[in-house]
Amino acid sequence: MHLLTLKDLSSKEVVDLIDFSLKMKKSPADYEFSLEGKSLAMIFQKTSTRTRLSFEVAMTQMGGHSIYMDWRSTNLVLADLGDETRSISGYVDGIMARVLKNNDLNVIAGASTVPVINGCDEKYHPCQIVADLVTIKEKKGRLKGLKLAYIGVHNNICNSLIEGCTKAGIKIVTVTPFVNEASVDVELVKTAKSTGLYEKSIDVKAAVEDCDIVYTDTWVDMEFFLDPQFKKEKEKRVKMMLPYQVNKELLKGNTDALIMHDMPIHRGYEISADIIDQPNSIIYTQSENRLHSAKAILKKLLG
Ligand code: CP
Repeated sequence: MHLLTLKDLSSKEVVDLIDFSLKMKKSPADYEFSLEGKSLAMIFQKTSTRTRLSFEVAMTQMGGHSIYMDWRSTNLVLADLGDETRSISGYVDGIMARVLKNNDLNVIAGASTVPVINGCDEKYHPCQIVADLVTIKEKKGRLKGLKLAYIGVHNNICNSLIEGCTKAGIKIVTVTPFVNEASVDVELVKTAKSTGLYEKSIDVKAAVEDCDIVYTDTWVDMEFFLDPQFKKEKEKRVKMMLPYQVNKELLKGNTDALIMHDMPIHRGYEISADIIDQPNSIIYTQSENRLHSAKAILKKLLG
C-alpha cells in the first residue's frame, strides 16, 4: 500500500490514523521496537525541515533506520527514475519521497516493490494534513461538525486539506483568490463538493467569522521562494494576496478561532508576526505532531 494522496485512504482509515497517532503520542514506549530492523529511504528533491526530521526521528524512535538521499547527490539525477527506484526498493522496507512533480511520484510508486509515502509534491501533502487533523482532534476533542477556513493560495496544502477535512467530517471553506495551476485537481474538488462539506468563497470576513480554525500557508511554493526568476510572479502574488493576510484585523470578528500554519512561515506575508505566538495559535503543536503522525503512517505501511 502507498500513501500518495489522501484519496488512498477511506474516511474510516483517515479517522483511525488520527486516533492511532494520538495513541502513539500518549504511549511512545509501547512502539519502541515496532519497526526494529526496518529501513526507510527518504528521497528529497526539495528542501525540508519538518518532513525530514519527523520521518527520520520516527524511524529512530521505533527502532528502525532511515537513509537521507539528496536527489542531486545520487544517480537519480542522471538515470531513469523507474530503474533507480526499483533498485532502491530492493534495499529498504519503504520509500518516502519529496519531489517536484507528482508525475515523478507516480513513477516511483509504480516501480517500487515497497510502500511509497508522498513527502510533498506540487499537488498534495498528505502527511502534513494527517498531522493537522491530529492537532485539531487533540485540541478540540473531536473532528466532526467543526468548521475550518483556509485563507491563501489554492495549492498542494489546500488540496490535501480539502480531502482530509471532508473525509474527517470537518466543513472546509476556502478563500483562495489565486490558484497555483500546477496543483489543480478537478476530480478532487468535485468529490469534495459532493460531500456537502466543501465550499469555495470570496468573502474572507464571512469565512472567518463563524469558523473554529483559520489555516493559512505560503503564497509561493518552497522551490520558487528564493528563485530570482520567480521574483516578478512573487511580487504579483504578494500584491494580490496581502488583503487576505491572516492578522488581528481579520480575526477581530472571531478571536476564539485556532490558528494553523504548516510551516515554513513567511512572517508579514500570509500571516502577521503577532498572530504566530498568541495563545490560540497551535502552529508549533501542529509541527510537533508531524512526528507522531509520521510514526503512525510508518507503522501502518511498514509494520
Ligand atoms: N510543512 C512541511 O512539510 O515542512 P518542511 O517543508 O520543512 O518539511
